[in-house]
Amino acid sequence: MATQTPGGKPWGGRFTESTDAFVEAFTASVGFDRRLYRYDIEGSRAHARMLARVGVLTEAECEAILAGLDQVQREIEAGDFTWSVSLEDVHMNIEARLTELIGDAGKKLHTGRSRNDQVATDLRLYLRDQIDLALAELNRLQQGLLELAEREADTLMPGFTHLQVAMPVTFGHHLLAWFEMLQRDRQRLADCRRRVNVMPLGAAALAGTSFPIDRHYTAELLGFEAPAENSLDAVSDRDFVIEFCAAAALVMTHLSRFSEELVLWASAQFGFIELPDRFCTGSSIMPQKKNPDVPELVRGKTGRVNGHLVSLLTLMKGQPLAYNKDNQEDKEPLFDSVDTLLGSLRVFADMVPAIEARPEAMRAAARQGFATATDLADYLVRKGVPFRDAHEVVGRAVRLGVETGRDLAEMSLQELQSFCDRIGEDVFDILTLEGSVAARSHFGGTAPVQVRDAIARARRRLAAS
Ligand code: ARG
Repeated sequence: MATQTPGGKPWGGRFTESTDAFVEAFTASVGFDRRLYRYDIEGSRAHARMLARVGVLTEAECEAILAGLDQVQREIEAGDFTWSVSLEDVHMNIEARLTELIGDAGKKLHTGRSRNDQVATDLRLYLRDQIDLALAELNRLQQGLLELAEREADTLMPGFTHLQVAMPVTFGHHLLAWFEMLQRDRQRLADCRRRVNVMPLGAAALAGTSFPIDRHYTAELLGFEAPAENSLDAVSDRDFVIEFCAAAALVMTHLSRFSEELVLWASAQFGFIELPDRFCTGSSIMPQKKNPDVPELVRGKTGRVNGHLVSLLTLMKGQPLAYNKDNQEDKEPLFDSVDTLLGSLRVFADMVPAIEARPEAMRAAARQGFATATDLADYLVRKGVPFRDAHEVVGRAVRLGVETGRDLAEMSLQELQSFCDRIGEDVFDILTLEGSVAARSHFGGTAPVQVRDAIARARRRLAAS
């Protein structure tokens, strides 16, 4: 049966005039949702097979649909597919071409299904794949961090609070802090994946379908953990997109903080690291420049992912049950978040193991900043001086150091004893940077031996998850 409807729309039956040309363009999503084509086809394959299994489609119809979908996929991947804005979205474009190719069987594919459960399914299949890619890139970046941390387990640098030199730490220990942040990020994404991996199909428009569908079978075919429990919820909520973007925003926020350090460290003023040339660019006017563009861009791109999270929360907050067209606006923020996240992780995973430390500059910075002042206070405490008094004594010694341009380790025993007579010759052991870090030898501490243990544990944790 051939029907003629205004504008040739699949839903045109109840309409008496064609869609306004601008409205057609305004409401279309095919310009961006076509990137879901693979998942749309995968979902349709499973739906067709399920319909055949329960007897709604004949085996022959199902075979025709599967072959037709293969053909559509080939056309899209060869760039031979004509996407049409008048067919609104990826779903109707594919269905229309399928019907063109195989005739009436193509028209039966949409039995017991709606674009509402279809789009939610496509999005979940897509996001599940993207999360797996992000998890793999995170893993690669973490391995790069461990490689670098191992190389720099003994390297001394100043640890900072308020960006003021605080206490000496090992560079390896500092790098492991980034490992931990990314480890939590990976756990968050993996946890998010569990809630993404639930199947909306069968919810149809909102209330389910009168056909005898087998949702567990479809879910199994698509590798979903289970069909969604409630049809209204299944087609309407996008909390899984929001949750992913929240996790992505945290990853980006961590990468942005890391970027900030790399930018500072690569500057002439710090000079702590050298970024490989292949991750930097020059200036068109200043010949001497080597700019840390990669970390700067990642820091900058964090803004858009954080922004997408707020867009999506705002998109959702006013929606009554069940599906609303508002939800079409979920895609661009999600796609851009995914692209930004994957790109940033990739470039960091490539760059981090190639970072070169400049231990002399790190050591010089730690020495200039009275980084062992706390060690001197702890030393006095061990000699029986109450901590608050020790703090005061060391403060006065630091003031002398500031006035005379010397570190505590550069003062004579007599000078140090003028602040407190409990100070003995052994004080010089703890005033060295090596002595300071070696003294912090407990679980989670900065001593090189602890850093090596932490790296070994980190490798096991990485392999286990
Ligand atoms: N393009 C739509 C979206 O992205 C697909 C679902 C449309 N459903 C509808 N009944 N208009 O959400």
